[in-house]
Amino acid sequence: GLSIQRLLGTTGDVTYDPGFGNTANCQSGITFIDGAEGILRYRGYPIEELAQHSGYLETSYLLGKGELPSTEQFEAFETRVLRHTHVHEDFRRLIASFPRSAHPMAIISSAVSALPGFYPEVFEVAGEDVEELATVLLLAKLPTIVAYVLRHTRGQRMPDAEPENGFVRDFLRMALHEVRDPEVPDEVVSAMDKLLLLHADHEQNCSTATVRNVGSAHANLFLSVAAGINALSGPLHGGANEAVLTMLEEIRDTHGDVNTFVNKVKDKSSDVRLMGFGHRVYKNYDPRAAIVKSAADEVLGSLGMSDDLLDLARELEDVALNDDYFVQRKLYPNVDFYTGLIYRAIGFPTSMFTPLFALGRMPGWIAQWREMMHDPSTRIARPRQVYTGPAMRGYVPMAER
Ligand code: ACO
Repeated sequence: GLSIQRLLGTTGDVTYDPGFGNTANCQSGITFIDGAEGILRYRGYPIEELAQHSGYLETSYLLGKGELPSTEQFEAFETRVLRHTHVHEDFRRLIASFPRSAHPMAIISSAVSALPGFYPEVFEVAGEDVEELATVLLLAKLPTIVAYVLRHTRGQRMPDAEPENGFVRDFLRMALHEVRDPEVPDEVVSAMDKLLLLHADHEQNCSTATVRNVGSAHANLFLSVAAGINALSGPLHGGANEAVLTMLEEIRDTHGDVNTFVNKVKDKSSDVRLMGFGHRVYKNYDPRAAIVKSAADEVLGSLGMSDDLLDLARELEDVALNDDYFVQRKLYPNVDFYTGLIYRAIGFPTSMFTPLFALGRMPGWIAQWREMMHDPSTRIARPRQVYTGPAMRGYVPMAER
């Protein structure tokens, strides 16, 4: 005889919406997605135009400030970011203190959590200037941290930042290139820049919603973003790019042909998913996946490489897009389906794919956190629940159970 309201523990109505499929938790002017049409825009600019004409740092500025920068504004922003790409010597020690086999996302999240310890001035006063400094520090230091994590897992020494190389080029040099042969091909720099830009924001995805949730308790920007990094590590979210490569290798080495694997995915008792396919919001081709797919062809072409896994991915896409199972459920490739193949061609090991996603997503996390902090309608995130446990019972002493 308990009323539904008593069960819910509330006097008003509660919406039961697992995974927030239909519940908006905020208002935002940053990113627009039309999932049915496959449209993505940052601050009103179509992702295709930004991918063609803009770059990661300019897009970071756009996401944060709402407008594209003038030449002077961009140069001042870029100079400021580049001035901070060096990290404190203790960071090398912090990263080196992890086992070399530790998952990079765990090291990166710890390093980002450690950052505010080195910049206490960021928390002394609140306000725009301090937020701006925190923004610049995060954008500037994450590439160095990611590069050092890769060096550490490979047992290599961590080279100093050389900001005069430019933001993306210096990241690639620090991460991948011989210290004595720092030539990074232009095509590789521009492909990496484009991939970072494509990941820069995606409205209320799991990691961004996490950043907002944590930030709504007024946790500082660094700790809020570290929580986002942890969320991104999950295989259903940022971890999918790594899972796609593992899946493609498994198909090549074990299943032999694509159809056998697709049949396994369709068999609901198998629990196997086609990684890099499907999206909560897109029920059409993910516009980012289309850009990444052609970028994969360009990069491999310009490096004079071929990759049997890229051929396999294309074949898998063809089979899936013509199969009723995928058509009926509106499952299309998402951004992760082809990114790993480019990262692999550039020279990144699979374990670094999700860290690269984190690097790309950083400007979005920051912009969303800052937007939330300045929105007077923000309240601490505190979802309700539908209680399903026992109604009420008396305590039984241990000896009598
Ligand atoms: N392979 C096979 N079947 C799938 C897949 C897939 N990749 N994705 C969804 N389905 C099926 C489900 O089994 C379900 O079928 P049913 O109705 O017969 O039960 C139906 O499609 C709906 O799936 P849901 O799980 O309800 O979709 P949801 O919106 O909750 O999940 C998600 C979205 C997590 C992205 C899912 O599609 C998935 O697991 N994809 C693979 C992992 C992946 O690529 N993640 C990256 C997401 S994008 C990003 O983070 C950048």
